[in-house]
Amino acid sequence: MTTNHTNPRLKRLLKRYGKETSPIRWDFFVGYRPLVRYRMERQIKKLLGLIKTNQQSDQELNLLDVGCGTGRYITRFLSLGKTVGVDISKSMLQQAKKNTNGRATLMQADAENLPFENNTFDVVTCSYLLENLNGPEDNPKKVINEMYRVTKNKGQIIFTVETWYLMPNVISYVMSFLKRKRPLNFYSVKKIKELTKGMDFQSIKIRGLSPITVFFPWARASLSMIKSIERIDNKLEKFIPFFGAQLIVEIKK
Ligand SMILES: C[S@@+](CC[C@H](N)C(=O)[O-])C[C@H]1O[C@@H](n2cnc3c(N)ncnc32)[C@H](O)[C@@H]1O
Repeated sequence: MTTNHTNPRLKRLLKRYGKETSPIRWDFFVGYRPLVRYRMERQIKKLLGLIKTNQQSDQELNLLDVGCGTGRYITRFLSLGKTVGVDISKSMLQQAKKNTNGRATLMQADAENLPFENNTFDVVTCSYLLENLNGPEDNPKKVINEMYRVTKNKGQIIFTVETWYLMPNVISYVMSFLKRKRPLNFYSVKKIKELTKGMDFQSIKIRGLSPITVFFPWARASLSMIKSIERIDNKLEKFIPFFGAQLIVEIKK
């Protein structure tokens, strides 16, 4: 545990996430809404595909998931190698510990100040964190720079973000405006390019995920609907690669 309670930013974050982040609420959100579950599963499958494509056959990977929450990613990484998760919220980490049966290393830390040496991990991932960095003191670019710093040369940084044109996000944006609250931080290809400008990497690939569900304002769907959605997504992702409910970004350092 590396939490420095004298750091004012950290004190504010702990206050905010101690109250707001509920593992039960997050797992409910993910688990019981078929469309959300479908999109997340699609995202995680693509991400695992990118990691496996880059992996040498006998290589044990050193993986880090930033903002690991209840361990949705790290439970899937355990068979790939040594897995570490960091999150600011203690309650999320407690749930992650249960979900991984204690098989991952979990640490409470701020994504903007990762407690690792340069060039430590083969793969660094992050999902559904950058959208939540919408406070005045938050800096998503700093998180990306930190992920880059702790990744080994020739390693991979893979993160996913929701786009602002996904229908529920448009609604959430309008609601935030009406309630005079800060909207969540949604993304576009242009914004990702701005955030990664000036970084010295071998390559960057940005791909849209699940283009058809951009137009769905609700999260309910039957199993047969999901199957049709999947078929359409498989086709559309090839024809309109930069458009989708989410973007998956792969940076090779
Ligand atoms: C929406 S959840 C996503 C969890 C997980 N990545 C997933 O996809 O299931 C966002 C997580 O980011 C964490 N978080 C927010 N700000 C953070 C920060 N500055 N540093 C580390 N974790 C943070 C929250 O505590 C929460 O667990």
